[in-house]
Amino acid sequence: MCVISAEKFSLWKKKQISKGGDNNSLDLLIDSLAGLSNKELNLLKIKSEKNLNLKLNLDLLELFWDKHLNTSIPIQYLSGISFWRNLKLEVSNRVLIPRPETELIIEIIAGIFKNKEEKITFVDLGTGSGAISIALALANPNWNGIATDIDKNAIDIASRNFANNSNQSNLKFYNGNWWDPLATYKGEIDLAVANPPYIPQDTYEVLPIEVKNFEPKNALLGGEEGLDHIHEIIQHAPIYLKQKGWLLIENHFDQGDRVKQLFLENRFTSVKVLKDFSGIGRFTIGRYK
Ligand SMILES: C[S@@+](CC[C@H](N)C(=O)[O-])C[C@H]1O[C@@H](n2cnc3c(N)ncnc32)[C@H](O)[C@@H]1O
Repeated sequence: MCVISAEKFSLWKKKQISKGGDNNSLDLLIDSLAGLSNKELNLLKIKSEKNLNLKLNLDLLELFWDKHLNTSIPIQYLSGISFWRNLKLEVSNRVLIPRPETELIIEIIAGIFKNKEEKITFVDLGTGSGAISIALALANPNWNGIATDIDKNAIDIASRNFANNSNQSNLKFYNGNWWDPLATYKGEIDLAVANPPYIPQDTYEVLPIEVKNFEPKNALLGGEEGLDHIHEIIQHAPIYLKQKGWLLIENHFDQGDRVKQLFLENRFTSVKVLKDFSGIGRFTIGRYK
């Protein structure tokens, strides 16, 4: 623990920003590693006399900031922490940093399953850090959740994240290819959700360094047109979904119409493309017959 005056801390912050980077990233670093939240940082503006307790001294914090500036490594991988909705999640370079637009999935699902008494079985395919599955399991303690991922490291991280964020036991984790670990759940799934790798090959090649050099390729690349995994998930969904079961897939900004077509070709009904905060057709949903 390190105690420092608010004034000295403000000067230190100004120095860091003068070297480059943006305020949000610096605030995230300070929150994740020094334990000083954005709210506390804002309070500093009106309480300049206050002393601050930091979990890490400023020299060490500066080393992390310099590494971020020099290599473009995302702050979340430096600190090993990502904040998503109300969750504090462990992340490593084996899992995607959960994105703000993905948060909307939880609201969309809450809008579909309005009856809080209803008990359903849901699956999150390609759970990564566990963000979606953990948020759903916590918001709906009487739901029975299953999360899968091809990467065993991701499954280990997601399981730890569930244990660290709750004392519930309504979420199970399985390692394997998309639906494969669900052999005993055929015809039993009420809701399947996936944010699969959907970046087309040519887009992947020109991704910003902070994404391409650090985030796992198998969490991003969706084949030549970005639709390989989406296609596989939709094709096999009818084996696992109940009649009228829901499938929700996050897709790339320009894939909505093609994903909708894949749903229809596989006998889904009530198919819709829903927009994200930026007005992009980001989520495709439908019911199996
Ligand atoms: C875009 S990331 C999404 C992670 C997380 N659901 C989220 O929204 O932050 C895609 C995830 O799918 C997983 N994945 C890739 N190929 C897979 C496959 N064939 N079967 C299962 N999971 C796969 C990756 O390991 C990665 O965790």
